[in-house]
Amino acid sequence: MHRLKSVARAILLLFTAAQASACGDDGTHDHGRRAAPPVPLSPPTRPLQWGDINILHTTDTHGWLLGHQKKSFPEPNYSGDLGDFASFVSHMKQSAIDRDADLLLVDTGDLHDGTGLSDGFPPGGIDGHDSNQFLAQVPYDVMAIGNHELYIYANALDMHTNFAPQLKGRYLTSNVNITVADKQGNPVSIPLGNRFAKFKTRKGRRVTAFGVLFNFTSNDKNTTVQQVSDMVNEKWFHDAIQDEPDFFLVTGHMPVQRDDFPLVFNAIRAVHSTTPIVILGGHSHIRDCVQLDGRSMALESGRYMETIGWMSMDLDKRGSKKDLKFSRRYLDANRVTYEFHSRKRSSKFSTSLGRRITNGLLDLAKRFDLDFMFGTAPQDYVINQAPYPSNQSLLSLYAEQVVPVALSVNNTRSSIPSYFVTNSGSQRFDVFAGPFTRNDQIVASPFTNKFLFISNVTLSSATSVLPILNSQGELRRSVDDLDRREKELYAGGNIDIRFRQWLEAMDKRMGEEKRAAGNLTLGYVTHDSCPGVGDDIPHAPLPFFSLPDFIASGVPSVTSDTPIDFIFVDFIQDQLLNVLNSVQKDRVFSADDVQVYSTLLTNQVFGVYAQEAWN
Ligand SMILES: *[C@@H]1O[C@H](CO)[C@@H](O)[C@H](O)[C@H]1NC(C)=O
Ligand SMILES: *[C@@H]1O[C@H](CO)[C@@H](O)[C@H](O)[C@H]1NC(C)=O
Ligand SMILES: *[C@@H]1O[C@H](CO)[C@@H](O)[C@H](O)[C@H]1NC(C)=O
Ligand SMILES: *[C@@H]1O[C@H](CO)[C@@H](O)[C@H](O)[C@H]1NC(C)=O
Ligand SMILES: *[C@@H]1O[C@H](CO)[C@@H](O)[C@H](O)[C@H]1NC(C)=O
Ligand SMILES: *[C@@H]1O[C@H](CO)[C@@H](O)[C@H](O)[C@H]1NC(C)=O
Ligand SMILES: *[C@@H]1O[C@H](CO)[C@@H](O)[C@H](O)[C@H]1NC(C)=O
Ligand SMILES: *[C@@H]1O[C@H](CO)[C@@H](O)[C@H](O)[C@H]1NC(C)=O
Ligand SMILES: [Zn+2]
Ligand SMILES: [Zn+2]
Repeated sequence: MHRLKSVARAILLLFTAAQASACGDDGTHDHGRRAAPPVPLSPPTRPLQWGDINILHTTDTHGWLLGHQKKSFPEPNYSGDLGDFASFVSHMKQSAIDRDADLLLVDTGDLHDGTGLSDGFPPGGIDGHDSNQFLAQVPYDVMAIGNHELYIYANALDMHTNFAPQLKGRYLTSNVNITVADKQGNPVSIPLGNRFAKFKTRKGRRVTAFGVLFNFTSNDKNTTVQQVSDMVNEKWFHDAIQDEPDFFLVTGHMPVQRDDFPLVFNAIRAVHSTTPIVILGGHSHIRDCVQLDGRSMALESGRYMETIGWMSMDLDKRGSKKDLKFSRRYLDANRVTYEFHSRKRSSKFSTSLGRRITNGLLDLAKRFDLDFMFGTAPQDYVINQAPYPSNQSLLSLYAEQVVPVALSVNNTRSSIPSYFVTNSGSQRFDVFAGPFTRNDQIVASPFTNKFLFISNVTLSSATSVLPILNSQGELRRSVDDLDRREKELYAGGNIDIRFRQWLEAMDKRMGEEKRAAGNLTLGYVTHDSCPGVGDDIPHAPLPFFSLPDFIASGVPSVTSDTPIDFIFVDFIQDQLLNVLNSVQKDRVFSADDVQVYSTLLTNQVFGVYAQEAWN
């Protein structure tokens, strides 16, 4: 169980740190940095297409509320922070009034786990508690729960008691319950937020909204996730869809393709064959769109405040069977984009709410000491964009330098030759040139595993383990086994496979040629299943390289029969012992032979290394 949870946690995110510049203590909080992104950005060229109903969509923000503040491309494309976004929303709401249209704002979950703003709280705190207060200040019409709200009961309870009430009935958790004590102290399971909401838009259009979570199985005790296929058979659900609204707003933390939105869609269509249905999804961190019929559109809007999704729909006469007119767009989340689409000059752009949110987030970063600097990274180190092994690979740096150097500090065993193996999923996010802060460490390397070792393993036995570990992954016997394993990871919340497939596919579509042409900037290149071009700005894709499942340190220069310390992370212990016992017959190694190598945990070694090597 714990293992599965770590696998699930070993997935998520893959980009940089929200590096907040410290506030001056002059009390004015006029952050010059916010006036413009760190590098000049080119604006979009096509205005948005507005309709009767217009929607701005965020998803999988994972604490990236100060945006992406590194200078390496394409990070500046995602430099807008939540304050900038709030200003954008205000201007777009005014635009909607000017156009006599409706504008709704929707988020589809995963507010926890990703940056220091959510995860860098002092001991005794609750993940996301402080950062979520800023999201609550943005006028969301509907928010849906994500799986990252449910790995730890205390976080789920915080969402139930402190966050959901601020949404006034619009924090939707259609298939998610939490168990709390009732007035008599007896445990009682109740919806964590609200199962559905019925409301009217500013223009008086009637909306019936849901917030559905995929079949998630790694939720903490005392939280319940009902399978989507069961949810659509619930009486409350059938009651909720009986009356026909002007449109259904089916939000959820679930990918819009290859998951269960069709179950909800079909259940509604069985009762209302022509009512417009808008679907907003998330979770797999990609940009995606599909139409399940001509009177519906489903949009998914990326991750980490990199992408803001836009959808518009024109309504027609009730009962009409004609295809509805829709549009969708994936905006790069930066101020240049926001100013272009809201037609506000930079000097007129920030609203007072926007400024308050930005300054509040910067204060939070300061309170959590996220700017504490371990050292200065000499170059970018990337996970997917460079081959492994190579000098640009974060995984090479980690296994060959970071861990060996950090573990040798104050360690009585450091004079004994050693060899280190870990899983490649052990790092979450790239490290970019420039200051390496506490926030960067949380973003890149958040997992809290122990470093273990077995002494007196011959070097040749230790080094034979790695290729076998890696081939086990590749050969994994049958397609069925592979499929079962993937399903298991997926049910636990791991979307790494899908996200990396998406990156690989965009690079394969002539990525190299597009980069070589030199007339496009780097970024996401979306090929979804909706008509027309979705990306607001045409980009060339980032390079993509596949990775082995396991990686290792350099081999010590001793003879192959020399006894060494064989170091590894606790996460892979069982698998590693099995393989070690298959490559040599001198001894049978068991858990009794395993000792703790260091008091450092995996989430601390980068900082120690940066202090040693990057100072
Ligand atoms: C995005 O990043 C590229 C560099 O890859 C930069 O040239 C461009 O101006 C950035 N901004 C926008 C809005 O695309
Ligand atoms: C679940 O919560 C109830 C009520 O707070 C508590 O009595 C019970 O011990 C909890 N169950 C578990 C498995 O923690
Ligand atoms: C969720 O809570 C409601 C209200 O207490 C209860 O009727 C329902 O059975 C619960 N659902 C699940 C799946 O536990
Ligand atoms: C969710 O679980 C139900 C019931 O086991 C199953 O029918 C459905 O296919 C599952 N959904 C996915 C995407 O695996
Ligand atoms: C990697 O860096 C090392 C040390 O600076 C250098 O000797 C080596 O040639 C580099 N390798 C490549 C492939 O650039
Ligand atoms: C190593 O020991 C020194 C002296 O006790 C201490 O200041 C330092 O923090 C230690 N470093 C690590 C990584 O444990
Ligand atoms: C180390 O292992 C060898 C055989 O693999 C054994 O002969 C030797 O006694 C062991 N030494 C220690 C200190 O455990
Ligand atoms: C970029 O250059 C390529 C190759 O010269 C050309 O085919 C393509 O149309 C250009 N794209 C843009 C957006 O200018
Ligand atoms: Zn997510
Ligand atoms: Zn998720």
